[in-house]
Amino acid sequence: EKAGFDHFMLKEIHEQPQAYRDTMMGRISEDGKSVDLKEVEMTDEQIKAISKIHIVACGTAYHAGLVGKTVIESLARIPVETDVASEYRYRSPIITPDTLVIVVSQSGETADTLAALREAKRNDARVLAITNVVGSSIARDADDVITTWAGPEIAVASTKAYSSQLIAFYLLGLYLAQVRGTKTQDEITEVIDAMKQLPEQVERILEQSDIYKQVAEAVSKHSNLFFIGRGLDFAVAQEGSLKLKEISYIHSEAYPAGELKHGTLALIEEGIPVISLVTQEELYEKTLSNIKEVKARGAHVLAIANAGSEAEVGRSVDELFAIPKTLPILTPALSVVPLQLLSYHASLALGHDVDKPRNLAKSVTVE
Ligand code: F6R
Repeated sequence: EKAGFDHFMLKEIHEQPQAYRDTMMGRISEDGKSVDLKEVEMTDEQIKAISKIHIVACGTAYHAGLVGKTVIESLARIPVETDVASEYRYRSPIITPDTLVIVVSQSGETADTLAALREAKRNDARVLAITNVVGSSIARDADDVITTWAGPEIAVASTKAYSSQLIAFYLLGLYLAQVRGTKTQDEITEVIDAMKQLPEQVERILEQSDIYKQVAEAVSKHSNLFFIGRGLDFAVAQEGSLKLKEISYIHSEAYPAGELKHGTLALIEEGIPVISLVTQEELYEKTLSNIKEVKARGAHVLAIANAGSEAEVGRSVDELFAIPKTLPILTPALSVVPLQLLSYHASLALGHDVDKPRNLAKSVTVE
């Protein structure tokens, strides 16, 4: 049942190209010019009337929601807030009938996420669910559902569910942009064209799986490390840090690169690994200056960067891992893959139970 892979997690990492294809299938017009989300029953009038969006989820799904915020804001220009579900209800969020609440859940059964959905409905908001399980509690109670066709995810650490949630957000962002007229046809076609390349680009990263094994072995000798990035790179950094913690039990923190000097820089000492994500072209220069700050204090800097940026980024870091180039907004669907492989191999190097990490359950049905 592991189809020749040693663990479910590795199998699921390798299923991502297929999960991307399946999640896009039937949702992009044949001419490649528009997105059609038939399952979304909201009328154009309702979509035009949305004044704000709340994205609510837990853990890895929350991290997908952080990417979703930037994606929707940049494509559809609707203000978005992303909340951790266990916090959402208790901060008396301002939910109005023209608020769209998006809940994200692989299992569709997470108690806090379900409670957030109910809170949204009590306040007459429309609820759209992004979930991987057809017929789950969350899928049943939501007004609209976008199913991620990642297939069953067995490993406790979420991989293909997260990345398929990103694909769902790209499709939704484009769909909202079409209806609200916030992007030109050329801009929409450009994003769709680039999305279609993603499965193959993930395959190319997976072919180099071995290089992440070597890095993971080095990383696994440390008990502390940092992930840094700006913008979407920071969102992915948070997911990378969670993945590493949950299966390797190595402590790490994700920081917005520019925020280090406001306190955390004090923790940087000789030899500490700092995994930096440097994929957002507009922010290269700023992130590179933060990388210099940690290097000056002895950090060993590993960078995930775009192919083609080796000259620019490579000279400021100790090791560079290039990922195929895509549009900045789509990069999370690629940059997360090396981080998944790194966590997987670090867990193995330390002899842990990769698929069933201690203290954790696949589906969390208590609040
Ligand atoms: C981490 C992980 C968890 C889940 C979280 C939400 O790898 O799997 O953080 O993402 O418990 O679960 P779902 O998406 O089922 O609501």
